[in-house]
Amino acid sequence: MERTYNIATIPGDGTGPEVVREGRKVLEAAAAKYGFRLNFEEFDFGGERYLRTGEVLPDSAPEELRKFDSIYLGAIGHPDVKPGILEKGILLRLRFELDQYINLRPVKLYPGVATPLKDKGPEHIDYVVVRENTGDVYTGSGGVNMKGSPHEVAMQIMVYNRTQVDRCLRYAFEYTRKRNKRKTLALCGKTNVLTYVFDLWERAFHEMGQAEYPDIKREYYHVDATCMWMVKNPEWFDVIVTTNMFGDIITDLGAITQGGMGIAAGGNINPHGVSMFEPIGGSAPKYTGMNIINPLAAIACGGMMLEHLGETEAATAVENAIMDVTAHRLKDLAAGKMGYSTSEVGDLVAERV
Ligand code: IPM
Ligand code: MN
Repeated sequence: MERTYNIATIPGDGTGPEVVREGRKVLEAAAAKYGFRLNFEEFDFGGERYLRTGEVLPDSAPEELRKFDSIYLGAIGHPDVKPGILEKGILLRLRFELDQYINLRPVKLYPGVATPLKDKGPEHIDYVVVRENTGDVYTGSGGVNMKGSPHEVAMQIMVYNRTQVDRCLRYAFEYTRKRNKRKTLALCGKTNVLTYVFDLWERAFHEMGQAEYPDIKREYYHVDATCMWMVKNPEWFDVIVTTNMFGDIITDLGAITQGGMGIAAGGNINPHGVSMFEPIGGSAPKYTGMNIINPLAAIACGGMMLEHLGETEAATAVENAIMDVTAHRLKDLAAGKMGYSTSEVGDLVAERV
């Protein structure tokens, strides 16, 4: 029987639906070529639905989505909705409830893509950030007291338990081994200030590394220094593992070094459950419906989804097709400057697959 995967799509807001359309086009081409089937089912979660119905996410959504093999997401965020509501109510809620405890974010400069890093090329910028995706200040622990008074207190607490740390580290060690490049895993933290949390991370990191991954070289960088080296010597990095908030910040820095939001892709991964793949960029409302936004990030995360589903050959084909397009076709990655429309870029990649 033909291999079949059921994919839930959440096109979402702004330019999300446009880029998801192109991603699907490429995924269908890969499925036809490599002999598997994709059944897509669409969910209308996002700002439009919220404004129309007053409901951010139906309570049944996580259960329903759990039945799929994967989730393919465009973008969440609407200019008429106060910041935080959709992000927390949809994106973060799904990450948490589906226990997608890894946020995998490759930082790879494709050929032909301009980087703001002087004298650096594709041979220098090729590493992966494993961002922990369930803990840290994202748990919502904390609160406000005496609001509105001069004594107002606001607390948002960095929270980690050993289980969260260990499962993230294990994924990172395994990933580094499987990647089989420089076999180096760097822990990015702040042991000089956040002495409780990073004492836990550092101990767990070395204990696990020493006992179970002697073939993987371990390095440690403070987060501030990590930012410096990501700019000055990105070739030092192979795999970086870090906490949720630091991972959020350094992957935007990483994204800009690989050409920006038009290209940066990521996966919210539950190694034992359902994962969700999304471009790192937002909904870019000002470009909505203009057919000028760059769909490559969405296409690239479609490739990551295929890899995750075990369709390795198809995933490689998608990445090679993207690289061919960046190397030989696109003038620029920015919306409106590519030399092609959104749908034409989708066609170019699909043809090459
Ligand atoms: C990201 C985003 C989200 C995050 C926001 C939109 C909640 O910045 O995916 O990096 O902080 O994780
Ligand atoms: Mn972010």
